[in-house]
Amino acid sequence: MKPHYMITTPIYYVNGAPHVGHAYTSIAADVLARFKRLDGYDVFFLTGTDEHGQKVEQAAQDKGETAQNFATMVSAQFRNMADKLNVSYNDFIRTTEVRHIKSCQDLWKKIADAGHIYLGAYEGWYSLRDECYYGEDELTTTPDGRKIAPTGAEVKWLKEPSYFFKLSAWQDKLLEFYEKHPQFIGPESRKNEIVSFIKSGLRDLSISRTSFKWGVPVPGDDDHVMYVWFDALTNYISALGYPSIESSDLWRFWPADLHLVGKEIARFHALYWPAFLMAADLEPPKRIYSHGWWTVEGEKMSKSVGNVIEPLKLVEEFGLDPVRFFLLREVPFGGDGDYSRQSLINRMNSELANDLGNLAQRTLSQVMRNCGGQLPEIGQRNQDDEALLSKAILLPALLREQMDRQALHESLETVWKIIRASNAYIDQQAPWALKKTDPERMAVVLRVLVDTLRIIATCLQPFMPDSMDKLLNQLGVSETERQLADLEVAMPAGRELPAPSGIFPRFVEAE
Ligand code: ME8
Ligand code: MG
Repeated sequence: MKPHYMITTPIYYVNGAPHVGHAYTSIAADVLARFKRLDGYDVFFLTGTDEHGQKVEQAAQDKGETAQNFATMVSAQFRNMADKLNVSYNDFIRTTEVRHIKSCQDLWKKIADAGHIYLGAYEGWYSLRDECYYGEDELTTTPDGRKIAPTGAEVKWLKEPSYFFKLSAWQDKLLEFYEKHPQFIGPESRKNEIVSFIKSGLRDLSISRTSFKWGVPVPGDDDHVMYVWFDALTNYISALGYPSIESSDLWRFWPADLHLVGKEIARFHALYWPAFLMAADLEPPKRIYSHGWWTVEGEKMSKSVGNVIEPLKLVEEFGLDPVRFFLLREVPFGGDGDYSRQSLINRMNSELANDLGNLAQRTLSQVMRNCGGQLPEIGQRNQDDEALLSKAILLPALLREQMDRQALHESLETVWKIIRASNAYIDQQAPWALKKTDPERMAVVLRVLVDTLRIIATCLQPFMPDSMDKLLNQLGVSETERQLADLEVAMPAGRELPAPSGIFPRFVEAE
């Protein structure tokens, strides 16, 4: 039986069209999901849209639409983005689906029946943009006297009847849980923030609203709709068929291995979510990893701010795989990065076209011209050959370890080290010069290069699925030999290789 792996993206608000920030999380999650599949796991990869709440209701009103119609339209844009970006999700959940609404109400009842919910009244600050309650101590005052959340969002004073979750009772249990599961929150810096937030004292959490209607009705009290975060977080289990824990065959994926999120929502995932789950007697997920923000000229790219880069426009101009590559290569995963068109072009030309594209083209065109287009024998390898191959063969193990830490940029750097070493090797060995002097040695060198490229291309499939499919075809690797485990078996000599063609064109700016 294959081991299981469940990975999720946040479900995105449908208050506006998707942008590069959303594309980023979805692509990163896709790389991780594809890597696990490549490594023999049975993967459940979940994404979707978060459609309730006041922020979405207001965006719909601004457009003169009903909330439901507006949500349906924008949700379709998110789904289209995922499809166009080659995001290999197994399920796309919408929080307005009946399966989800039912699941939320069941979870609520379970938590309420266990005595963790009481009726009261909320009086305090709320940010519509963040859909988040803030304590006075978290806010700052602008020079003109407005109150601002740590995210820069405006806050408003709210006063309304509300159900509360007894979060204050979970303070010690959460800290204990983090201690027992040191991998639960990544990166480490985020864990420290959350721990100190908890240590400063947890207040009970308002989990229902009465001043608007666009939400999941609270079971047994139609005046209230659920707080959008209670509703949203539940998607991770409603998609698995909760509450049918026994009868749903998807429940085998719970607890999720990884919720991948942006850093501004780490608190909801690492603090509220495990508390809700423990209160319902369910297991918390295994890990919450939060990455940083893409900024544009220093400001967070955001639907609410309106400074967005459209991912599908980038794809149209540069091609999908260069965009996927750039986003994960440019910025250490976990940190922030500023978007720049010029750095995308530089990465594309220097690392894809020059480093990897040329290596493949030089190798494969020589096999075509000088080996009759057939995969050469392994032959007698010397120390130089073994030096390169022994580094390349370590890639899967290195990547496995890095992917489990979500160190995606490290993985790419590790692969690029081998690519650079291969380019140095081909220059040193100069197989084109061996053609006349030592054709046997030439064949050995070209085979070393094909074998190294096969490892590289196999490992890069999660990052650039289409381009690596092309490259693997050109290397003569059949579709049934593309798992990491298949790298242990050498390809038989004599295979016919198709005529090579460039995989990564150089990008030339139009005049
Ligand atoms: O928060 N840089 O939805 P959302 C990097 N519905 N990533 C970014 C980004 C940026 N500038 N902007 C957005 C919500 N993201 C809730 C989530 S989950 C149960 C509910 C990515 O539409 C990043 O993953 O505001 C961030 O956490 C997510 O989109 C927020 O999307
Ligand atoms: Mg947001």
